[in-house]
Amino acid sequence: MATTKKVSAIKNTPKHLLGIQNLSVLEAKEILAEAKSFIKLNRGSSKKLDILRGKTQINLFFEPSTRTQSSFDLAGKRLGADVMTMNMGNSALKKGETLIDTAMTLNAMHPDIIVIRHQDSGAPNLLSQKVNCTVINAGDGRREHPTQALLDALTIINRKGNIEGLKIAICGDILHSRVARSNIYLMNMLGAEVNVIAPKTLMPEGIDNLGVKSFTDMKKGLDGCDIVMMLRLQNERMQGSFLPSKREYYEFFGLTPEKLKFAKKNALLMHPGPMNRGVEIDTKLADDINVSLVKEQVELGVAVRMACLKLYCK
Ligand code: NCD
Repeated sequence: MATTKKVSAIKNTPKHLLGIQNLSVLEAKEILAEAKSFIKLNRGSSKKLDILRGKTQINLFFEPSTRTQSSFDLAGKRLGADVMTMNMGNSALKKGETLIDTAMTLNAMHPDIIVIRHQDSGAPNLLSQKVNCTVINAGDGRREHPTQALLDALTIINRKGNIEGLKIAICGDILHSRVARSNIYLMNMLGAEVNVIAPKTLMPEGIDNLGVKSFTDMKKGLDGCDIVMMLRLQNERMQGSFLPSKREYYEFFGLTPEKLKFAKKNALLMHPGPMNRGVEIDTKLADDINVSLVKEQVELGVAVRMACLKLYCK
């Protein structure tokens, strides 16, 4: 009798998760399907598995993080890995050590997975060339944040059933946002139509080449949208002045209940966090459980990271 063996798209490709841009549709769908299976486990009273027992996971965070860092930490622990999270503010980097020296030092301790967040675009790629283990990108500069886009996709699928055919608006500081870039790649790949909305100064040149429509007006950009993703003004990446004032920004680009009406009826709101209430989003709207998916995004983030750790760690 013929047996059908499940073929993994990911097992046959390199073992790093560096960006959505390097993923195939099959791989993205495999991660999402795997993540779905962890949602129930995470809601149950016993959350511990031994899939990664004996494996060592190092979380290397060179930038501050609440959600992503704790999510990777919990994900690794729930899969049974030994997890060490390093606050790089206290590392030898302060003494002049380079990223590569740090990588070589950690590599000598035989980790199985390194999760890295770094302020420089491309740092995870560089690291992946220097170590023997799996590297997972937890956000690099303004380039990519693949697990954020995957958790956003899972959150949408969980609510809407599908991404294909949806119209998704990504609004705010597109220029400095790795979340925007990863979401543009992933939502396009999964069959959504993507609008990006930003003031001219925060809209990257040539963004239309990524297969999106760009708008500088919320009313036009939100028209007919099923999902509205808001982004933080990433001041730490801004050199110079991009905006007249926060008040004026809120006036034109802050999401309020009135502006949300430009989108489809029953449109849902997302935000990767951290939120700046009263800057890019109205504070009541952010907490409105009929509209806001923010808490669900955080919840499903753990499931997505468990899936990534499981599928990429050899
Ligand atoms: C985002 C990030 O770090 O890129 N946050 C996150 O991972 N949840 C978005 C941001 O910092 O604004």
